[in-house]
Amino acid sequence: MARFTLPRDVYHGKGSLEQLKNLKGKKAVICVGGGSMKRGGFLQRAEDYLKEAGFETKLIEGIEADPSVETVMKGADVMLDFQPDWIIAMGGGSPIDAAKAMWIKYEYPDCTFEDMCKVFGIPELRKKAHFCAIPSTSGTATEVTAFSIITDYQKGIKYPIADFEITPDIAIVDPDLAETMPQKLTAHTGMDAITHAIEAYVSTANCDYTDALAIHAIEMIQDNLVKSYNGDMGCRDLMHNAQCLAGMAFSNALLGIVHSMAHKTGAAFADQGAHIIHGAANAMYLPKVIQFNAKDATAKKRYGVIADYMKLGGNSDDEKVDLLVKYLRKMNDDLNIPHGINKYGKDGLPADTGFVPENIFLERLPEIAVNAIGDACTGSNPRQPSPEEMEKLLKCCYYDTDVDF
Ligand code: ATR
Repeated sequence: MARFTLPRDVYHGKGSLEQLKNLKGKKAVICVGGGSMKRGGFLQRAEDYLKEAGFETKLIEGIEADPSVETVMKGADVMLDFQPDWIIAMGGGSPIDAAKAMWIKYEYPDCTFEDMCKVFGIPELRKKAHFCAIPSTSGTATEVTAFSIITDYQKGIKYPIADFEITPDIAIVDPDLAETMPQKLTAHTGMDAITHAIEAYVSTANCDYTDALAIHAIEMIQDNLVKSYNGDMGCRDLMHNAQCLAGMAFSNALLGIVHSMAHKTGAAFADQGAHIIHGAANAMYLPKVIQFNAKDATAKKRYGVIADYMKLGGNSDDEKVDLLVKYLRKMNDDLNIPHGINKYGKDGLPADTGFVPENIFLERLPEIAVNAIGDACTGSNPRQPSPEEMEKLLKCCYYDTDVDF
């Protein structure tokens, strides 16, 4: 038996934010990031719609990108004090992910962060509040997924919280919110989305339901991401749907080691002055992981199917895999994303010398490799790497060399 879980309602299309008017309840907490939702006027609109629906509202603002355990605990305290019956999380993946974790702590105040990280081990929620997610970036799809990523800065590790309990009740996928994204954010979140769809399609937990969503998302992202990056707002709107479909696929089919590696490298060099932004990490690692996974016969065939749907040509599965890798690398070029960590600048753009020095990378490599193997996303990858293989793979991601093992 397999399970396929999504939010009960997904409202989509321009202007769908207005659906907030129809929520039923008394008290809503609104969780946002650092100010983009205020600047775009979306926060005011949400507050007005909720007021019209008779809600008393309370704002939790300033949730940082890559939210910390501390931010989660502080937000949960505000919820415990205010006692909302709805949690409205609005913005990029960060405030929505943080709000999901706050929700767990709000419903179970004795739950520790360690408890939350037990994969598919969250107790039953919705005894105190329901959850509505409204994404403003086109990538994480956390509005429809069973996941939340929280960073433990003491350890320099991003932990996925995974359980269908935290799949939101309502998602509002209004492309108006994504239209204010700057170029770099559009690029990174878009490559996150295509990584979700490709990893879901080759995951060992794939099924007919997730395949359909993953393939359609891949086709849509192929058609729209670069144009969206270059300012075509029609394509930007379509990307908002595409990333959501990819999310529906991976929330149920799970992911693979591109994500394991992105989670475990993302904050590992924070002391060098930057993070490897999640979407950019995925974009750099995805072609390498495809080369690695393609040694598995089933995965190779599935990459071939993806290449066929993308109309990339090729007469054999080997050729199709090569063409897929080439295509994704070209997308990175078009989106101004580097190919290797050694060329990843502090600002996330290609640089002659990246912000992660070679000696620091090599010093931390064994620990990062072990952590990546232990990541919750590794189990569903089509090929299970040994620690040695994971180290070699990460080296290919650092130096941008082909994977031939
Ligand atoms: P992701 O979806 O990649 O997880 P994030 O970490 O939530 O994104 O947000 C990354 C950055 O994008 C943040 O600086 C965020 O600004 P706020 O914290 O002020 O909200 C910004 N951002 C998110 N959505 C945006 C939008 N639609 N327009 C402009 N900036 C946006």
